[in-house]
Amino acid sequence: MKIAPSLLAADFAHLAEEVARVAPEADLLHVDCMDGHYVPNLSIGPPVVKALRAHTDLFFDCHLMIDNPGTLLDAFADAGADGITVHVELGDPRPLLDRIRALGLRVGLTFEPGTPYSAVQPYLADIDILLVMSVRTGFGGQAFMPEVLDKVRAARAEIDDRGLAVEIEIDGGIKVDNAHLAIDAGVDILVSGTGIFGADDPLAAARAMRNGAARP
Ligand code: DX5
Ligand code: ZN
Repeated sequence: MKIAPSLLAADFAHLAEEVARVAPEADLLHVDCMDGHYVPNLSIGPPVVKALRAHTDLFFDCHLMIDNPGTLLDAFADAGADGITVHVELGDPRPLLDRIRALGLRVGLTFEPGTPYSAVQPYLADIDILLVMSVRTGFGGQAFMPEVLDKVRAARAEIDDRGLAVEIEIDGGIKVDNAHLAIDAGVDILVSGTGIFGADDPLAAARAMRNGAARP
């Protein structure tokens, strides 16, 4: 099980220190990039990714919640992104997936809680990461939507049946007390913002999530 702390919940005035604090239990760093259009919130762009790149070797897992990701793919790559994930809701993602691949980055595709599995299914063979949103994008600290686990189970079954090298990542509302639900449904990567950065002991919280500690 991999853990991806979501930077959105970190103290933006001390980003390098916040990353260093969670790094011992982090396999990836989830970076939420919001443009105030695709979602009604603004967060992080390439300059911040670039500034952080000098402070850590962690995999930068950039989740683009922006209307025109094509205009920023090169900038994110130049800034030091390791993976870029785009939303299927924007339309046929194939050109974006191809460009992310051509940039030498890990290719991610994601979908909102209300979007069916069938929307991402045609692209499974073209991606490295399938990000299942378990909240509506836009803000951290929202409640986990357990109904998306059906989509995780569907993806897990198909990825295993077809022998695809796609990792399933889940994002939104993951906490120590529900991580086991996602793990048991077949997730490979747990994203958690407030569940880690908001915990009294972020490293202990990340460890407990990884172990599915709240499993009955
Ligand atoms: C939501 C973002 C999430 C968010 C998760 O739009 O994509 O990555 O940071 O935050 P928590 O874990 O607090 O729900
Ligand atoms: Zn995210």
